[in-house]
Amino acid sequence: MRLKPYYRLFLFMLACGTVVAEPALYSSPLPLVADQRGEVIYVGEKTAQQIARIIPRTGKPDKRYPLPAQPNGLALSNDGKKLYVTVEEPAGRVYGIDADSGEILLTIKTGHTPMAPTLSPDEKTLYVCNRFNNNVAIIDLASGETLKTIPVVREPVALALTRDGQFLFVANHLPTGAANVDHMTSVINVIDTKKQAVVKSIPLPNGAIDLREMTLSPDGKFLYIPSIFARFLVPTTQIERGWINTHALNIIDVQRQKLLHTVLLDDIDRGAANPWGVACSPDNKYIVVAHSATHEISIIDRAALMEKLAGVPEHDATRKFEERADNPMNNLSFLYDIRRRVPLKGNGPRNLVVLKNRVYVTEYFSGSIGVVALDPTLKNNVRSVSLGPQKAMNTVRKGEMYFNDAALCFQQWQSCSTCHPDARTDAVNWDLLNDGIGNPKSTKSLLLSHATPPVMITGIRPDAETAVRAGIRHIQFAPASEEKASAIDAFLKSIQPISSPYFVEGKLSEAALRGKKIFEEESSCIYCHSGTYFTDMQKHDVGSGTEREKGVEFDTPTLVEVWRTAPYLYDGRAATMKSTFQTFNLNDRHGHTSQLTEKELDDLIEYVLSL
Ligand code: HEC
Ligand code: HEC
Repeated sequence: MRLKPYYRLFLFMLACGTVVAEPALYSSPLPLVADQRGEVIYVGEKTAQQIARIIPRTGKPDKRYPLPAQPNGLALSNDGKKLYVTVEEPAGRVYGIDADSGEILLTIKTGHTPMAPTLSPDEKTLYVCNRFNNNVAIIDLASGETLKTIPVVREPVALALTRDGQFLFVANHLPTGAANVDHMTSVINVIDTKKQAVVKSIPLPNGAIDLREMTLSPDGKFLYIPSIFARFLVPTTQIERGWINTHALNIIDVQRQKLLHTVLLDDIDRGAANPWGVACSPDNKYIVVAHSATHEISIIDRAALMEKLAGVPEHDATRKFEERADNPMNNLSFLYDIRRRVPLKGNGPRNLVVLKNRVYVTEYFSGSIGVVALDPTLKNNVRSVSLGPQKAMNTVRKGEMYFNDAALCFQQWQSCSTCHPDARTDAVNWDLLNDGIGNPKSTKSLLLSHATPPVMITGIRPDAETAVRAGIRHIQFAPASEEKASAIDAFLKSIQPISSPYFVEGKLSEAALRGKKIFEEESSCIYCHSGTYFTDMQKHDVGSGTEREKGVEFDTPTLVEVWRTAPYLYDGRAATMKSTFQTFNLNDRHGHTSQLTEKELDDLIEYVLSL
């Protein structure tokens, strides 16, 4: 067969390595870790299911290790020889990998969606967050056995171990409790590793939620935790000056295990939305924060910050303190002249490390590593180095990028993901204006929104397409481009439910099987929560309305993934599934539950939480 000349040329170029076939998967770099000498950096490419080894001098990968699943966390032994990788799966695993060859040396079973692998100083123990089991596992590396799991508050996502190995700080992604309250915050748990128990819980200030990462200062004295700082007590009538969401750096005194200060990362007229990664320079001169929705990093002069903070009162949890004008958490220009905001060239920064005088940050959507010189006078001081050829973005991927992008919002104050982290819920109530003012509603997960019209708990929007466009116009305060809105639709339609942590080996437990029968027969839940998505897509008055919502009919919500979306009911008044029925099901209007024994109710709940 004779090949056409251009095809021959193509084959020739392919053979010479000048043309590389487009990869089948997106790269999505997320976690990264450097060796102690700063000679190599390992990057977990999440959706590409591999690890790339990067040479800091060039920023380019020189090796790739394939993995059986998506990496979301990395740790490296002190001698730089062994990598520990957590992968994002319901039947979670940690892999121990030879850092030089990529060979998988050991596989350890953990819980649901393990994250943040952290080695003890003697490297005998590995700590891991089991995000959706709401616990932290203590793993003995010699035997691969989990010695103990320690319950924490909700969705632990980051760990920081004191240098002596005694105290393990745990960042909980979301707050817990009822949402129809004035105070909601994510909590930092402190585990005493000798006692193997939580010895302290440190609440962040009111509205500090959506935690992703944290870091200890190189001297081990301070813990830095970026967060969203939601102003959920006011109606969403405007967005200027961070009226709805601001963004913060929380500073904890490690020795006293106490929150010292919270400072805002935004500027008066420009949000610094969705902070994610945080790291200190090894010389302790800078604290660097990655802003995932505004594609920039903040480089904060640490000494200047501490000096400025010495002049303001320490945090206390009273309302009076939180409202003080001299409190840095109310001051949008507190970091003025002690912090530089450096725009990145890539999209979606996540985690970062600082080596000598450069910052390396994973850029999730552009599949690259941002390399930023701490010295701004250097030529070419901000680069974005591609991890290799990238798969061209389809509409779903673009939609995911827009969903996470504060560029869609006036003055970059927030993205959709600010209130809908991972396209789910931030667990707080917001007074959106689509159904009037003064009647806050619990943020809904967007899983299956498009498949279950109408949307909003009041059913006030005919479908999710309408809600997406209304969101861009009325919550982001920006004109909605049809191209972006329909890409967001495509992304939201593509998200798949995650299997429940209540499943036992992929199946309903015995208790859940008994509960299924109650759900379908005795309690007639299935009357409204019917079909594949457990909703009849109709409105009903289930007696849940109080005060101005008395007698209001609400849209039957889907129950798929309801294990993940507490608190429940339209105003989030039910902190737990049990209280939804035990405390708030008046006169059995919301299914027949009053006749159930305690055990039967537990079975029913076990089933619902398994959906
Ligand atoms: C300030 C927080 C906030 C932001 C920002 C936000 N939302 Fe929401 N969203 C909510 C709340 C609260 C609800 C539930 C309101 C209700 O049920 O009445 C909701 C509900 C929705 C729903 C309906 C879900 C359903 O199944 O009923 C959709 C769709 C939606 N949001 C999309 C978006 C998109 C797209 C963006 C970005 C353009 C966005 N949201 C930004 C708070 C927010
Ligand atoms: C008459 C129709 C109907 C019946 C019967 C019914 N539900 Fe519901 N369910 C609804 C409606 C409407 C809501 C929304 C109520 C609200 O937000 O205040 C809801 C809300 C819920 C929620 C909260 C979801 C969330 O995200 O906040 C759960 C859980 C739930 N139902 C489970 C059940 C169970 C279990 C039963 C049987 C014991 C049941 N439902 C019976 C209509 C019904």
